[in-house]
Amino acid sequence: MTTLLEIALRSAREAGAALKQAYARPHEIKSKGLRDIATEADLEAEAISIGVIRDLCPEARFVSEESNQQLTDYGDLPTWYIDPLDGTTNFARGLPGFCVSVAVAVSGVLQAGAVYDPLTDQLFYGERGGGAFLDGKRLHVSARDTLMESIVLADWPREQAAREQSARFLARLAPKVDAVRSRGSAALGICAVAAGWAEAYYQYILGPWDVAAGLLLVQEAGGLVTDLHGRPFALGQPSWLFSNGAVHQAILDMNPFA
Ligand code: 2AM
Ligand code: CA
Repeated sequence: MTTLLEIALRSAREAGAALKQAYARPHEIKSKGLRDIATEADLEAEAISIGVIRDLCPEARFVSEESNQQLTDYGDLPTWYIDPLDGTTNFARGLPGFCVSVAVAVSGVLQAGAVYDPLTDQLFYGERGGGAFLDGKRLHVSARDTLMESIVLADWPREQAAREQSARFLARLAPKVDAVRSRGSAALGICAVAAGWAEAYYQYILGPWDVAAGLLLVQEAGGLVTDLHGRPFALGQPSWLFSNGAVHQAILDMNPFA
């Protein structure tokens, strides 16, 4: 039998291979709203990702950015959270830094996840209780415990009010830390925390498809996940802080809106 993790890996790899090919070609860009676009590649990668999962897991249900954003309780049917192209703005402009994010939950508990970056050919993955890995190597969050030695990753919400809140948060935080980076792909930013390459990642607004895989990986790598007020996370909530645990409270303390 093919395990849920094996299905996630195959789905992410096959969709990612299609993204890599499409990246080299001109794009059809459709506006979905303020600062929100989809390309032909979002749709193609989504069809591939879902197709792989349907073949290997016929009882699958889907929460996926381009076709079904509705969070529904599917009980013990495997529920797959898919972002077929995380970092669409990067992709559409030719800026490197995008990926496929695939995760699966059963009875509301995440079981397996994979994040594939087709440009670097890096595959991050993990299973509940089995650890997080990058290309076969076990991942652990970093042990750095002061803001001054921390790299903080953040992405920018599309919505104007949240954008301004995020800018004010960053204005307090940036002078206290080693470096701030914005990758433009939430899933890759979250994986960087799991890998110990950065101490924290925050975003004021993310969807469940953006975070599901990375969330499991950060937990499996020993990190901590809450919303930006320090409350327990829930997939349907907007705001997110992923960290190595050691600098979590210090970052929350900088949030002027907490
Ligand atoms: P996307 O590329 O799939 O749209 C960039 O800000 C990162 O945050 C991307 O990973 C982007 O996902 C994600 N994101 C999700 N919802 C967002 C929102 N409402 N505003 C901005 N970014 C969002
Ligand atoms: Ca997307």
